[in-house]
Amino acid sequence: MSRTQHDLTGRCRVCDAPISAFMSFGRMPIANGFLAAEEIANEYFFELAPAFCSQCSMFQLIEQPQPDKMFHGQYAFYSSTSRYMQLHFEAFAKAVMADVLPGRADPFVVELGSNDGIMLRHFYERGIRHLGVEPSQNVADVARGRGIRTISAFFNRKLAQDIVAEHGRADVMLAANVMCHIPDLPGVAAGARHLLKPDGVFIFEDPYLGDMIAKTSYDQVYDEHVFIFSATSIARAFAPHGLELVDVAPQITHGGSMRYTLAPKGSRPASARVAEQLAKERAQGLDRLETYQRFKENCEHSRARLMQTLEQLRKQGRRVVGYGATSKSTTVTNYCGITPQHVEFISDTTPIKQGKLSPGAHIPVRPYDEFTRAYPDYALLFAWNHAAEIREKEQAFLAAGGRWIVYVPDVKVVA
Ligand code: TMP
Ligand code: ZN
Repeated sequence: MSRTQHDLTGRCRVCDAPISAFMSFGRMPIANGFLAAEEIANEYFFELAPAFCSQCSMFQLIEQPQPDKMFHGQYAFYSSTSRYMQLHFEAFAKAVMADVLPGRADPFVVELGSNDGIMLRHFYERGIRHLGVEPSQNVADVARGRGIRTISAFFNRKLAQDIVAEHGRADVMLAANVMCHIPDLPGVAAGARHLLKPDGVFIFEDPYLGDMIAKTSYDQVYDEHVFIFSATSIARAFAPHGLELVDVAPQITHGGSMRYTLAPKGSRPASARVAEQLAKERAQGLDRLETYQRFKENCEHSRARLMQTLEQLRKQGRRVVGYGATSKSTTVTNYCGITPQHVEFISDTTPIKQGKLSPGAHIPVRPYDEFTRAYPDYALLFAWNHAAEIREKEQAFLAAGGRWIVYVPDVKVVA
């Protein structure tokens, strides 16, 4: 460990216990900070160092950039770009309509981080009262353009009070890939307790710590993900605010996620799945620091293997192109030291990323047609969490002799 890593100490964002980083991914830019060449001189960097709180089991970043550096009018992430994610959120919305809404008069659904309305639109289309809370203006504008009621704000206790004053309490609160972005988790928990009806539920899902540890998918760690949750840490974080973990459901999205259902304490019985998940997490060691020290070693091993592969291909003069300029890829390119000499460009379907450079590593991002126009020898699958969708779509690439380089759970070249 270098000296700076030893200096990375702080207090747990949830329980205030002293914590210290168990590793550092080094100097990192904003994961979604795609930039033009003339912006390189002003690029922002911070130290990406995760810590584990032995007291409440929360996995968290020691340092996080100011929220306005990450979520702003130019936020480059539009949820609706993936067809699979659209289907996933439709299924999520339908599950809520089937399991929670029946028997409720004029139910009110609030979603935190509603992005471009990928999930709320299903409530809107059925005339269900809804409100999206989305701090990034550009994506919120897309949702509003579709008729989905959306306010641009950060959720906290004060905003919960304002929503209650204007709309009344919520039957359901939803969030997907959002809760792990909010540093003031206790503030959100208190706000949720205030906003929910006594028989209301808060259902949210995020990348799951158990999957990240099992697969060494360290690219889940980036500026926006201030936390990576487990059932253990969620139960402990919400209990002091009167919300109890009553259900869990694993999801395949984002390389392995968990859906958590919280309810005011005593309002409904907890499913047996909760106790089972907590036991599974103890067996996996998610509540012990040694597990994270081993994770650090696994990350170093993964980095060495990936760079060995890329270096070899570079020496052989093979063309390697990145597939999907994901936020996660910022951690991989910067932690591993991948340069435009290793990866010629990154193909991405998101218009506002195209023509820009990837954060930190400055690999050009180009439109998808450039990938199909002249297939490279290898495609480095940065969007590995969309592997099923992509491999189905890219059969012509394989037929042309192309090969995938993957790095989760292990570094390998696959057909
Ligand atoms: P995500 O992993 O954070 O969801 O980001 C996915 C990124 O990958 C997004 O910028 C869109 C891009 N992408 C493609 O370019 N092609 C694809 O087929 C898929 C699924 C995603
Ligand atoms: Zn803690």
